[in-house]
Amino acid sequence: MSTPSKPKFITFEGIDGAGKSSHLSFVADLLAARGIRVTSTREPGGTPLGEQLRTVLLHQKMHLETEALLMFASRREHLAQVIEPALARGDWVISDRFTDATFAYQGGGRQLPVAKLEQLEQWVHPHLQPDLTLLFDVPLDVARARLDATRSLDKFEQEQNDFFAGVRGEYLRRAAQFPARFRIVDSTQSMAQVRAALTAIMASL
Ligand code: TYD
Repeated sequence: MSTPSKPKFITFEGIDGAGKSSHLSFVADLLAARGIRVTSTREPGGTPLGEQLRTVLLHQKMHLETEALLMFASRREHLAQVIEPALARGDWVISDRFTDATFAYQGGGRQLPVAKLEQLEQWVHPHLQPDLTLLFDVPLDVARARLDATRSLDKFEQEQNDFFAGVRGEYLRRAAQFPARFRIVDSTQSMAQVRAALTAIMASL
């Protein structure tokens, strides 16, 4: 009998409007069909305290460093209460955003120094990185059209093109920096094509 593989930590990333959230349950279902227990969660949020922080973060103006610190505060709680216990009991974890989002939004978008964010990352999760990061990528105009069509916009979604250009640029830079863990999913494709790409990626795990 083969030994069960180590549980994996998978994160979903991308600029607002890239469509990542519509694919979370699809990937969770693919894994469940293989008999894998999955914990699905999100950031900021994922815990009662984290969800309260999410409300503040998405709707209240604050100092840019306060924003970065609260993202990591939410993450600290999330790791302690959800991610680490789930991996310890053998569940795979799928998180809608994680630390790459802080580098992309607070670093690339808000222009906070990467070195400061790296210090927080070292503090909060020195030994844990996702095993796989799915980066749902679309050009800015496609993302903007999708956002405007769908909903009332939160604080981040109301940002302008230069902010999102910074966010997307930092995501792509990190994907190039960490090629072993990132897979870029071209989200201009149809839903069926994205699902086919995701099925191939998950089958390779
Ligand atoms: P998002 O994940 O897009 O959820 P929804 O699909 O419900 O809008 O919203 C979370 C927002 O928070 C998104 O705009 C990105 C932002 N964010 C950061 O700026 N930094 C972070 O570290 C994280 C996790 C999210």
